[in-house]
Amino acid sequence: MIRKILKWTGISLGAVLLTLVAVYAFIATSMNSRINKAYSFENEEIEIRSDSATLARGKHLVAIKGCQDCHGNDLGGKLMNDDGAVGRLVASNLTKGKGGLPSDYDRADWLTALRHGIGKDGKPLIFMPSHETTLLTKEDVSALIAYCEQVAPVDKEMPENDLGPVALVMGYLDKMPLLSVEKIDHNLPMVATVDSTEGVALGKYLAVSCTGCHRADLKGGAPVAPGFPPVPDITSSGHLGSWSDRQFITTLTTGKTPEGHTLKNEDMPWKMTAQYTRTELASLYKYLRSI
Ligand code: HEC
Ligand code: HEC
Repeated sequence: MIRKILKWTGISLGAVLLTLVAVYAFIATSMNSRINKAYSFENEEIEIRSDSATLARGKHLVAIKGCQDCHGNDLGGKLMNDDGAVGRLVASNLTKGKGGLPSDYDRADWLTALRHGIGKDGKPLIFMPSHETTLLTKEDVSALIAYCEQVAPVDKEMPENDLGPVALVMGYLDKMPLLSVEKIDHNLPMVATVDSTEGVALGKYLAVSCTGCHRADLKGGAPVAPGFPPVPDITSSGHLGSWSDRQFITTLTTGKTPEGHTLKNEDMPWKMTAQYTRTELASLYKYLRSI
């Protein structure tokens, strides 16, 4: 009797394992073919000026859009993750130093990366949030390109991306934004400029950078990855509903909330939000309170 039970337990466990292996093999194959798919898009014309105001704007954008959080303070590239489960995630060296962008990486390549989420070879950029940069105005994209093109070269060879099983499965389930090329509406024309005066319109434009974690409706949700805290609602129905604009600005510039909670920069990138201008923060507040 016992033997029979043991035998059947063994067989069922074996069957479960085999099914899991088959499911994983299916997911890995499907993700790998999506990762290696070649795309081609026609780029719009954008004018790139390199005057000092444009460069200053580009520098500000690099700070407030998190480019440095991923690509490193000097944009020389960063190993964002390297373990067996999630795998190796590498943000490229964006400079013209050794190990940086190829010498023939031109403005059209920059535009393609920021607008469509693909590399010079036409293959998807992995984990680069181009679904957010694609919503930047022409003015801002050109300021970013002008600024990035002239940063000091950094000699730093970076290893290749190498996704582990957790990243592949999370990417497959759409729990991790691996392939921004698939999320982008490639036919949506770029907006020329945004109203830069304080108000809801500017706030809405800036809040795109918050949606990656706080969700499209900004009402928060489950942690972005295992080990992180849940993401709070930052609309009028959350804590923000009872905060003054000053309290909101203090939270985003010091990481301390009116409720006495301290935000860790690794969870909520307040060192990035601290670099927004007062006008930008006040606009974010107005927009978030309006929804
Ligand atoms: C969440 C992290 C993250 C943020 C934020 C981010 N990047 Fe990236 N970016 C990446 C990763 C990872 C890659 C490498 C993709 C690959 O190799 O497939 C990348 C690739 C790129 C590339 C393509 C380079 C190449 O090797 O082909 C450009 C250009 C780029 N990023 C510019 C930017 C700029 C400008 C910003 C800020 C507006 C930015 N990135 C913000 C993670 C990020
Ligand atoms: C990388 C993910 C990420 C991004 C990007 C992000 N946040 Fe957060 N944010 C979080 C997490 C996680 C928390 C909660 C942290 C905690 O509980 O300690 C949080 C907390 C907050 C809080 C505190 C809310 C409360 O109820 O106490 C505010 C306000 C906030 N974020 C605003 C923003 C704004 C505005 C943006 C965009 C400019 C933004 N966040 C971008 C992840 C993010």
